[in-house]
Amino acid sequence: MIWAFNPEMRDFMPVLSPRLLAVQEIIAHLGCRRIADIGADHAYTLIHACAAGLTERAFACDVSEGSLRKAAVNIREHGMEDKIETRLGDGLAKISPGEADLIVITGMGGKLIQDILQKGRPAVRAARYAVLQPQRDLPGLRKALQAMDLTMIDERMVREKNQFYNILLCQNGKSQPYTDAEYCFGKILIERKDPVLRAFILKTLRVHEQIVQTIESAQSIAASGRLSALKRNIQMTKEVLQCL
Ligand SMILES: C[S@@+](CC[C@H](N)C(=O)[O-])C[C@H]1O[C@@H](n2cnc3c(N)ncnc32)[C@H](O)[C@@H]1O
Repeated sequence: MIWAFNPEMRDFMPVLSPRLLAVQEIIAHLGCRRIADIGADHAYTLIHACAAGLTERAFACDVSEGSLRKAAVNIREHGMEDKIETRLGDGLAKISPGEADLIVITGMGGKLIQDILQKGRPAVRAARYAVLQPQRDLPGLRKALQAMDLTMIDERMVREKNQFYNILLCQNGKSQPYTDAEYCFGKILIERKDPVLRAFILKTLRVHEQIVQTIESAQSIAASGRLSALKRNIQMTKEVLQCL
């Protein structure tokens, strides 16, 4: 992590990665004042939000004592103990319904995020927004969000070198089911003809076509099921590419 002096904030602030910077930009537009960051770890998201005057009260939650100690040290270094409280617990267990109007969960797998939202339904229902940044299992998470009556109202995709990250902005409410391609790549990103999604799709296609070639040259009967699934996926991906 690089630290840089920010003259506006008159403080040395951790320089956020493109992923966390995008999360921060989304938070800045929501006008929420009570933010719960679940899996806060270093607590940089809340420290930046607090320094930018975006919060009056924030909760850095983590299941790991070590992570929370790290968060507490960073919060203290910035003199933000009166604004950001650390809470040790699993998911949203330590957030009462109505305490947070924005729930942030970043840098975790999609299945874990889904589990946290499901178990913490009362706090999620009482919040205005959820900002989610899953590291993997995007199609399953998008489906699960709709099943939990969370509607995706915006989505961004950012690139850090060879890594791609999706950030989903959700609100309580029902939405129409997506197509398989939309669950896979994100309806909003497809409709927006997102250039980062296009780069991601081109990379995915290259990887999948290479795997097909390898399986075909090995002439493995055992892998034939995988081969047809991959070919269907490649076809679907090419159709999305044509829309971008
Ligand atoms: C990879 S870090 C992500 C940190 C930060 N949110 C980010 O995006 O850079 C994941 C953090 O989530 C915490 N975590 C994992 N499972 C959790 C759970 N069920 N409830 C709360 N925190 C959890 C871990 O202890 C760790 O600090």
